[in-house]
Amino acid sequence: MVFRKVSISTKIFEKTNSVVTWIAHKPVLLTKYNGDYFAMEAVCGHMGCAILNKVEGKEAVCPAHGARYDVTNGNKVSEPQIKPEAPCEYDSIGEPLKTFKVLENNGFLEVDTD
Ligand code: FES
Repeated sequence: MVFRKVSISTKIFEKTNSVVTWIAHKPVLLTKYNGDYFAMEAVCGHMGCAILNKVEGKEAVCPAHGARYDVTNGNKVSEPQIKPEAPCEYDSIGEPLKTFKVLENNGFLEVDTD
């Protein structure tokens, strides 16, 4: 395991339940849910064009077409709710999004990106 320190203070979660950061050139969604921290890749598995940044409870909502993911395990909760106007070869989302272990260390988060 390689935990990378991200410059995200845990105090930010007093104001919001989630934040997107970049780790190893990839967007990662950090969420606090029920007192625990979670990290999940932040690119939607539908068309890959949307970065997940809105979390309701433990569900990240894709801003493009409304698919939902469980931030605790990356599993799809619901399919896209809006059909894209552009031709799209993907009707459903199969693979869960990748999740990463998170540690809290002296008020900052560390994420295992391996
Ligand atoms: S890109 Fe996320 S639901 Fe379509």
